[in-house]
Amino acid sequence: MLMSYEELAAAAAAIGESTGRPTHTVALVLGSGLGDYAASLPGAVAVPYADIPGFPVPKVEGHGGTLYSAAPGGKPVLVFSGRVHAYEGWPLDKVVFAVRAAVLCGGGTLVLTNAAGGAGDGLEAGDLVLIRDHLNLAARNPLTGANDDRLGARFPDMSEVYSADLRRIARRAGERAGVPLKEGVYAWFLGPSYETPAEVQMARRLGADLVGMSTVPEAIAARHMGARVLGISLVTNLAAGISPVPLSHEEVQATGLAARGRFTALLDALLPALAS
Ligand code: HPA
Repeated sequence: MLMSYEELAAAAAAIGESTGRPTHTVALVLGSGLGDYAASLPGAVAVPYADIPGFPVPKVEGHGGTLYSAAPGGKPVLVFSGRVHAYEGWPLDKVVFAVRAAVLCGGGTLVLTNAAGGAGDGLEAGDLVLIRDHLNLAARNPLTGANDDRLGARFPDMSEVYSADLRRIARRAGERAGVPLKEGVYAWFLGPSYETPAEVQMARRLGADLVGMSTVPEAIAARHMGARVLGISLVTNLAAGISPVPLSHEEVQATGLAARGRFTALLDALLPALAS
């Protein structure tokens, strides 16, 4: 389903007003564990999601989500701390609302980060992986329903959802920051249960290296609007059946915390390069 263009435009206008920056050329969505990174950025201005009309507010206790506007490379960047997922029961038009509003703010470049399970050969917990392509195994699409041509085409091309140019820029940023990066295909499962070992083997045979519960709807919506997308996964655990132990949210969080320094060093090197 599509949010109305007017609702998105109203949110974009509110973001421009409340941040004091009418245009943002880059937007970054932070996965779990990176939430407080944005507050440390130069020139950061915080706006609670609840203050932006139409914005879905995450139902996490004590953390309703905050949008930051910052200027790490001298150019304004929007950073979303807190996101809503389809597995929480949100309709997909709400799941992609923030990304669509960011593109209307001028965000022609979108960076999506997430935590994922490692399914591909050679991946280990702690690896940072640039997403080369995705498999939509949730079989849901944020573009179903009436299309608004002001947002994009009815049948948008998905030949290069994740920009090869942005992956090159990210790889160079990784080299400058001393952060090794791998590359792989991300498979979207709806969740919230983790995959079964059979599902992980299926995804592997279909070409997946990563399994996760986010990112794909946002990437589709951003491509629909013509934005360039960069996806970065942190492998927080080996996927079910590849890992010798049962999966737990605690393990996912602990790996996220342990990798935080490398992930933020990469983002510190990347954001100025994207915003220049
Ligand atoms: N599967 C799905 N989502 C995840 C995983 C996983 O193994 N790890 C972190 N997010």
